[in-house]
Amino acid sequence: MKRLLTGDRPTGHLHLGHYVGSLKNRVAFQDKYESYIMVADVQALTDNFDNPKKVNENVLKVVEDNLACGIDPDKSTIFLQSLIPEIAELTVFFANLVSMARLERNPTVKDEVKQKDKFKDSLPLGFFMYPVSQAADILVVKGEIVPVGEDQLPHIEQTREIARKFNNIYGNVFPEPKGFVGDTARLVGLDNNAKMSKSLNNAIYLADSSDVVEKKVMGMYTDPNRVRATDPGKVEGNPVFIYHDIFNSDKEKVEELKARYREGKVVDVEVKKELISAINGFLEPVRERRVKYAGNDKLLTEILMDGTKRARKVAKETMKEVRESMRLF
Ligand code: TRP
Repeated sequence: MKRLLTGDRPTGHLHLGHYVGSLKNRVAFQDKYESYIMVADVQALTDNFDNPKKVNENVLKVVEDNLACGIDPDKSTIFLQSLIPEIAELTVFFANLVSMARLERNPTVKDEVKQKDKFKDSLPLGFFMYPVSQAADILVVKGEIVPVGEDQLPHIEQTREIARKFNNIYGNVFPEPKGFVGDTARLVGLDNNAKMSKSLNNAIYLADSSDVVEKKVMGMYTDPNRVRATDPGKVEGNPVFIYHDIFNSDKEKVEELKARYREGKVVDVEVKKELISAINGFLEPVRERRVKYAGNDKLLTEILMDGTKRARKVAKETMKEVRESMRLF
């Protein structure tokens, strides 16, 4: 069975963008692939090294979100990055295979650096090279399938290059993994920013209550040129309709709302009310599954430690091969 690996930085609860980009696929794939889901606490520290409390407090929240979405801990192995020292070891070996210039060209790292003021004059080496560490995350379990959001594809490309180079020099150890992006490659934010993201404060979280969903949708950006409900509105590129297309299973209703919106025959509030019930309908089973885990740190920790044991075993096997092929004593 091919192996799947993906992961999340524990910096907060996961949101709808994570769901459509990666979580939906990892749930769908867990019967088909031997699945590893990593809580990327070491990676989270690359931009939160000055706030370890935040990373620590979010580890179990991310485990909980995965389980609430339907990840079955008997099928998928959920593990903690910092408890797999083999990843750090492999990162050191991989660092020899990547140039500074290649890392500088990584568009996702570039975007993230631009977003963070604290990195403007002083970019930590750890953050700069996290794609190398991410290659080690994937390859330490010989992951071939990597369900991710679109912004992660440059990292998968770098991982493939590293695997290829390693295999050429030391012998064939690693597969060249493939990224799998959800049907919605990138989810717009509530504010119409191209990307839903925690740092942009424009996200609906998988753990949001129905009241919070209501409040957030009511405050959503729509068509800025539509002043009155009788003005014809624009459906294309309108985040409210983008969300309807993704989360409202009543397609007929969506088409009817779109038609009336274009003609100026529906108020924003009605379109938003329909969206609130669609999103809450989508989140209902997530909320039901969450009940068993929410606040149950003992159970969540047990699941995480069980998974970590399994992942560590695989990581050790890979490192044995790596050390042999690299002729390390
Ligand atoms: N970089 C990913 C994110 O920010 C998290 C991550 C860490 C990851 N290691 C990974 C994703 C390995 C896929 C594979 O969401």
